[in-house]
Amino acid sequence: MPWLRPWRPPKPSVPRCGNRLQGALRGTVHLSARAGFSALLAAVAGGRLRRASTAIVAVSRAEPEADSATLAHRGEVDAALDSAWKHLDRVLRDDVGLNSAVEDQARTYGEVTPTGARRLAEALGLSQAGFGSSHFVDLGSGCGKLVTQAYLEWPAVKRAVGVELCPERTAQAKQAWSKLVASGTAASLRGSMLQQNVSQRTVQEDLVLVQGDLLEADISQATHIFVSSLCFGEELLAAVCSKLGREASSLRRAATLTALPHSRAAGLRYTGSVFAEMTWTGVEGTRVWLYERQESQH
Ligand SMILES: C[S@@+](CC[C@H](N)C(=O)[O-])C[C@H]1O[C@@H](n2cnc3c(N)ncnc32)[C@H](O)[C@@H]1O
Repeated sequence: MPWLRPWRPPKPSVPRCGNRLQGALRGTVHLSARAGFSALLAAVAGGRLRRASTAIVAVSRAEPEADSATLAHRGEVDAALDSAWKHLDRVLRDDVGLNSAVEDQARTYGEVTPTGARRLAEALGLSQAGFGSSHFVDLGSGCGKLVTQAYLEWPAVKRAVGVELCPERTAQAKQAWSKLVASGTAASLRGSMLQQNVSQRTVQEDLVLVQGDLLEADISQATHIFVSSLCFGEELLAAVCSKLGREASSLRRAATLTALPHSRAAGLRYTGSVFAEMTWTGVEGTRVWLYERQESQH
């Protein structure tokens, strides 16, 4: 059962800057965001949010409920993701060199956890949407775990695309995904979810991992977009927002980890927030902003 708490946006815990490459590096999330969140919780508990307590936000800590078949499928997806990404996570940190010193742990790469992804899917309407009706895009897809989970776990997702600026992360994503395809796990999980035979070729074609700048990605077909924007600079964030408004003509819902500036001017309507677990948070998760296209933009 979700519980309610007053909400005030936390101050950004990550230094902001417009440079895109720096934006990518800052995609390696500051663990201090967690400390910021704890401070916020303490402030709430201490009744120190009087003036700014303007919105009530539903906070869901647990995974969305599901029937036994779905729960079993989730367990299989978890196991597949664990085995394909386990080894790669360690290599990534060594390769990029962000974890070589203790103080650098604050810049450890972060991603949405499988539990957080399920909360996200529900908020985006992916859990409830019709079979094959969604084209999911993760802008800034990191090591590609979320894109893979979306494709293997939500029947609504017909096509899943990840766009990542960092070449090492894209390579890691491709390596892990290839492992799942080559072992037959991807086709088998997708097939059991859809209750039909799915070929290796189909899964290879349906999931696309692109190395490049998200600002140059083709999002014209995207119906659901996620942007893990917590570490994006203001300039990049504004550019993302206007890109969504201008180019995402098929968009139904978008989710971001920071409020999009000038979203209304871009034709996007803020519809509310949920909390979803990330690797740098506890179960309390971090806030996810949800948007949909304004009617007049259709
Ligand atoms: C926090 S990670 C999120 C990974 C994944 N989306 C998830 O939530 O699990 C954000 C990613 O965005 C990438 N990024 C930052 N700026 C980008 C840009 N301009 N184009 C593409 N990717 C970018 C970073 O390199 C980083 O891997």
